[in-house]
Amino acid sequence: MAAQTMEQLVSLCKRRGFIFPGSAIYGGLQGTYDYGPLGVELKNNLKLAWWRANVWERDDMEGIDAAILMNKLTWRYSGHEDTFVDPMVDCKACKLRWRADQISGKCPSCGSTELTDPRPFNLMFKTQVGPVPDPESFSYLRPETAQGIFVNFKHVLDSTSRKLPFGIAQIGKAFRNEITPRNFIFRVREFEQMEIEFFVRPGEDERWHEKWVQDRIDWWLSVGLSRQNLEPYHQKKEELAHYAKATVDLLYRFPHGLEELEGIANRTDYDLGSHSRDQGSLGLRARVSPNAHATDKLTWFDPDSKQHVVPFVVEPSAGVDRGVLALLSEAYAEEQVKPAPAERLKPVEEALATFLRSAARNEKLPAAAKDAIVAEGERIAQGLGERLPSIAGLLSLPGADGIEVAKKLRGQVDPVIDEFYRTVLHFKPHLAPIKVAVLPLKKNHAGIVGTAKGIRRTLQATGAMRVVYDDTGAIGKLYRRQDEIGTPFCVTVDFDTLGEGKDAALANTVTVRHRDTMAQERVAVPELEAYLREKMR
Ligand code: GAP
Repeated sequence: MAAQTMEQLVSLCKRRGFIFPGSAIYGGLQGTYDYGPLGVELKNNLKLAWWRANVWERDDMEGIDAAILMNKLTWRYSGHEDTFVDPMVDCKACKLRWRADQISGKCPSCGSTELTDPRPFNLMFKTQVGPVPDPESFSYLRPETAQGIFVNFKHVLDSTSRKLPFGIAQIGKAFRNEITPRNFIFRVREFEQMEIEFFVRPGEDERWHEKWVQDRIDWWLSVGLSRQNLEPYHQKKEELAHYAKATVDLLYRFPHGLEELEGIANRTDYDLGSHSRDQGSLGLRARVSPNAHATDKLTWFDPDSKQHVVPFVVEPSAGVDRGVLALLSEAYAEEQVKPAPAERLKPVEEALATFLRSAARNEKLPAAAKDAIVAEGERIAQGLGERLPSIAGLLSLPGADGIEVAKKLRGQVDPVIDEFYRTVLHFKPHLAPIKVAVLPLKKNHAGIVGTAKGIRRTLQATGAMRVVYDDTGAIGKLYRRQDEIGTPFCVTVDFDTLGEGKDAALANTVTVRHRDTMAQERVAVPELEAYLREKMR
């Protein structure tokens, strides 16, 4: 089961410290999000998995990390100054601004149809460079990491003596002044990309393009996305970016709909040709603007034909933040641990109905907040037995706290959830923010606590996994809390571990509890590290 609504994910992410709204203390900054303690681990793990598969495990790839600020000429010759625009309209009634292609002639906020004509709006953030506010001393925050790769093509080639085909990979921040950022971290103004520019001989580009599409689908499956939620989409001619001959988007079924996760473009010789001097001598296939500033030709000398070649480029370009959102969505499940009897569900059902009636009557709630609460509440009510854990998300929706019977609903639902349900993130172990939680059966028993902390230290010292110690609740509650953040293994130290239990054979063993199956097994302490490493591989 994947997440059904974005609210489920937003609520979990905030509650457990994955992702917070940016600058919240000052009322926020639209289109920005901050990754919290668990979010940064998840994001780093995703980036590491990508780097490992695309750089370390290949013989034909180099990595770089280019500057975010680049000479502004980069963006002239890349085509971004002229073409990186979205059509924008203003609502004449409420003055809000929208992307013309995302609304159907009606302001989504106030409903007015009095809109200005669409005007082009450049998405690049302009910024002053240096202390003197001279009109020429400006640049842009890069809107894609790709250009940092193209302008370094010759440096990488010369310093590594690569031959075609080979690629350059980069992970880094990109910035776009999106007119309407929305859907949580799906469309934001500051985000990260994982991009590869793969350089091939002209004529071999179509074969490599196909190969990369399959490669990228396989990789997303390897990090846990399911095939039925991933769809390749071949862009139509009129949808292609100015540089592309063909593009295949990998669409993912996010909670808000089927949308782009990654684009794999055949960029031809457009980029290297655009950034080259003496373009007339290069036999370029792409139509590029004449370049009066470049100091070099971005070519590769083919030793066989003894000719300079401008390579064609295949570009798999994925969004890190969209990747994180897809992983969270795919991994999310609300599961019944054991069936709750009808007499325990009845009071919750009644409290939920009262809450929804009260929300519908509430005159202080803004209409959008009321609609969201009622829609989510009704969805839960239709399948209460399965969806009971979603009530936590319902109660964290904007405005829900202010409804007077919210506390009563929470009071009814919490004990039932604790006993019969769990929310769980079924991450692949290598992506889980925390790999192992070491838990003492008793938190005030010096022997148990000392042994548990010793195991935590030993596992931490391997440098191979993020390990935490937690003694802030009863063992059942601790398991649920680790399930909710996707920890694949809990290690419990008890009296048997100390040799003080009923079965002497269990001395110096611990219980390893598995997140997905909830199965438990005893493992000898000296074998624990090897056991966990093997399971995580
Ligand atoms: N270099 C090619 C390029 O940038 P793109 O389709 O504009 O192509 C590539 O962007 C990927 O970057 C997208 O598939 C998406 O995952 C991510 N991305 C683009 N704009 C984004 C935004 N505003 N917020 C989050 N991710 C974004």
